[in-house]
Amino acid sequence: MDCDVLVVGNGIAGSVTALLLAEQGFRVILLTKGETLEETNTAKAQGGIVFRGPGDSPTKLYEDIMRASSGSSAKHSALLVARLGPILVKKILFEYLNVPFDRDGEGNLDFFREGAHSLRRILHVKDYTGRIIQEMLNQKVSAHPLVELKSGFMSLELIISSFYAQDHAWRYKPRECWGAYVFDRKKREIIPIFARNTVLATGGLNAIYEYSSGGPWNTGDGLAMAARAGAHLVNMEYVQFHPTLFYSTHPSDSFLISEAVRGEGAELIDHQGRPFMHKYHPLGDLAPRDIVARAIFRELQSTREKCVYLDLCGRLSPEKIKATFPGIYEELLRHNLDITKDPIPVVPGAHFLCGGILTDSWGRTNLGRLYAVGEVACTGLHGANRLASTSLLEALTFSYRVAHRIAKSQDGFSCSSILPWEEKIGDPPPVSVIEGLKDMVKGNTWKYVGLIRHRQGLSHAREVFLQLYKEVVTLRDRHGISKEILELTNMVESALLVTESALRNSRSCGTHFRADPPEG
Ligand code: SIN
Repeated sequence: MDCDVLVVGNGIAGSVTALLLAEQGFRVILLTKGETLEETNTAKAQGGIVFRGPGDSPTKLYEDIMRASSGSSAKHSALLVARLGPILVKKILFEYLNVPFDRDGEGNLDFFREGAHSLRRILHVKDYTGRIIQEMLNQKVSAHPLVELKSGFMSLELIISSFYAQDHAWRYKPRECWGAYVFDRKKREIIPIFARNTVLATGGLNAIYEYSSGGPWNTGDGLAMAARAGAHLVNMEYVQFHPTLFYSTHPSDSFLISEAVRGEGAELIDHQGRPFMHKYHPLGDLAPRDIVARAIFRELQSTREKCVYLDLCGRLSPEKIKATFPGIYEELLRHNLDITKDPIPVVPGAHFLCGGILTDSWGRTNLGRLYAVGEVACTGLHGANRLASTSLLEALTFSYRVAHRIAKSQDGFSCSSILPWEEKIGDPPPVSVIEGLKDMVKGNTWKYVGLIRHRQGLSHAREVFLQLYKEVVTLRDRHGISKEILELTNMVESALLVTESALRNSRSCGTHFRADPPEG
């Protein structure tokens, strides 16, 4: 056995799980496919993390979570996170990592407010909370003697007993996970890493959409791998669209404009400067995300414009804008936009997968020795629509639970010898071929599996993705394994998982909105 625990993915979920286990004496291997430790969704989180604001209580947080999801969240998860989450913020983020959350002039914690929250309760470090948390986690995991950090290592398949054991007897026993086949990008070899327990913390699948707040690394790797291994995936149709991404004619230039900007008073306006959210919901600009995102979509349909605008000028002083949102201010200056004077062009974009690999309240999947945590997992907390700034909180809560469970369940572990990985490493196909195929995925998800869906469009997208899948298999046979091919495979498979779930579910709820024309 190479390690006690293999953790795949180094965002908050993976890093905290790894650290909590290493602190208890377990040998952990922490993998990231990126060359650096910054290629995580955590690093891109702007707004912050839910804590306990003035006048707050677990019951109020629980109620907000349930209301944002229209009652579709799993009650046990919502209760667990509402009670345990803020305690862990204190233990792990304040006491263990010393995250320098913003405070006011009197030294009190400063809280943001975001959509669908009944009060201010979101801790932040300016508007780059996730980046700071990620940096502090990176320092800890790099320094820990029991965490072996491997960057540039991409898992390509879970080692599942019933598929890969040499001995046929394993086919007749309950399936379990013994680690992963991993592609070492520098050495250009595929190696198995054996572990008593494996934790998937690989994030979501934003990169399958044209406009997305996530990085290009968000290719659904853990989801596709888990599906191939026979894990149960649920709620895959519930892809949350953030209402406000900076609009650029080059979708890859777009990035998140935090909901906290609206929480601090910014207003959505149309191309003629008219506010419109009051037409759609009593909470106006601070309505739940699914409602704001669809309202923008409807405005764009009726005006035939490419974007709406988010207006801060006149609502916050230039000094306050620069002090509160320095990251967004600087980034937009690089795009020649001064947000102290000009409204920001925005469109909705894919932001977070509310579904994923089904786990119990200890992060266990239906496969023995396999856990999932963070965005790749579905604990049921988010139901059909996630409450803002609960993703880091969920990751923290369930990382703690996974680590606790693994530490407590040190049963005997023996695995048989396994089959070698047969595919060869190769050079990737030309960039234009890979990018062309990725664009096909993104264009079709955006058009047919986006904010508003209908059966015909979903069926069409499904056919496209099945055809693309065949093309990818042919390319893979011809070119061998590369990071590019693996990511493309995972993107197509993830797009199929979302599309098929969306087709199966004709009932609109939260982020999944079906507008099928009436039958007949
Ligand atoms: C934001 O800052 O708007 C994103 C927060 C989140 O998605 O939870």
